[in-house]
Amino acid sequence: MARRVAVSTGGGDCPGLNAVIRAVTITMIREYGIEVFGIETGFDGLLGRGGARVRPLTEDTVRGILPEGGTILGTSNRGTPFAMPREGGGTVDRSAEIIDRLQELEIETVVTIGGDGSMKIAAQLLGLGVNLIGVPKTIDNDLLVTDVTFGFDSALQVATEAIDRLHSTADSHHRVMIVEVMGRDAGWIALHAGIAGGADVILIPEMPYDMQAVVSSLVKRARSGQKSSIVVVAEGAIEAGKGALYLDDRASTNTLAKRLGGVGTKVAEDIAEACGADTRATVLGHVQRGGSPSPFDRVLGTRFGCAAAHLVAKGAKGRMVALRGADIVDCAIADAIREPKLVNPHGELVTAARSLGVSFGDS
Ligand code: F6P
Repeated sequence: MARRVAVSTGGGDCPGLNAVIRAVTITMIREYGIEVFGIETGFDGLLGRGGARVRPLTEDTVRGILPEGGTILGTSNRGTPFAMPREGGGTVDRSAEIIDRLQELEIETVVTIGGDGSMKIAAQLLGLGVNLIGVPKTIDNDLLVTDVTFGFDSALQVATEAIDRLHSTADSHHRVMIVEVMGRDAGWIALHAGIAGGADVILIPEMPYDMQAVVSSLVKRARSGQKSSIVVVAEGAIEAGKGALYLDDRASTNTLAKRLGGVGTKVAEDIAEACGADTRATVLGHVQRGGSPSPFDRVLGTRFGCAAAHLVAKGAKGRMVALRGADIVDCAIADAIREPKLVNPHGELVTAARSLGVSFGDS
């Protein structure tokens, strides 16, 4: 019987997932004659009451998906099989069902395409004897080892284009425009888009801001004759001495993360109140995650998918593919999730931005 492998996409979606699914499928089939199955909706697809929601992936089923956003398999970022919501409240560990289903389907390895949450689940399943190979995705770019995750470049293009567009309307109305971008714990999108879009202030979770410092940099710009200013703020940015802002009071649970939101509007209100500037806030939200992947993400996703297929074929276990410099390498999944990859406040990127006069609201 042919060897069988399954592919799963987990966590928040991002552009480039389909490029990986396509590359894994075609490489497995063409180069190794391995059968490929797609698990629907992350690991949830192995937990359905009516049996596994798994379908064969063939060269035909992945034809034409390279430029498509999202994932043809569906995904879920609502928790982990180790703590699934239980009817009537609380959670239950359903990992044993995943192991049973994979055995029933005679799947030897799962290629799990995901971010830190999915890689943590993978590390736990590895401990229970499930064979997995990881492919790092997330627009947040916050996984260790890999220089970059696919999805980040596409999100960056959306955020940069938004900033470019705001410059002209900000100038026309002599306004301070605030752009809130994604980035829960890591400010990579805000930092890169802020630099690429020529922002004047960049606020990121790694560098708590002081509103007085933000305002004095904006006032200085206005006094020097600048008609407008652009402030880029990551959704997880925090004011010094305070906490992150959330959309509601719902507490985090084992299965659901609290939803961030509101910092862009708060920054706009605080600036207006402190110096009388005419401010407007734009929240980019999920447009950063949707739509067609950039050429860079299509190529990276394809390279990751091919590399993952080669690892599976040679019987590797618990490895994650990664980009290091110009090369695709692999590392232990555990090494990628030791801690989140955060912006270094003293690193070269922040220093370069400062050289151009960008304020991080810290001085
Ligand atoms: O992890 C990716 C991410 O886009 C974060 O930047 C953001 O906080 C979160 O997902 C939003 O998730 P959801 O799709 O559940 O709103």
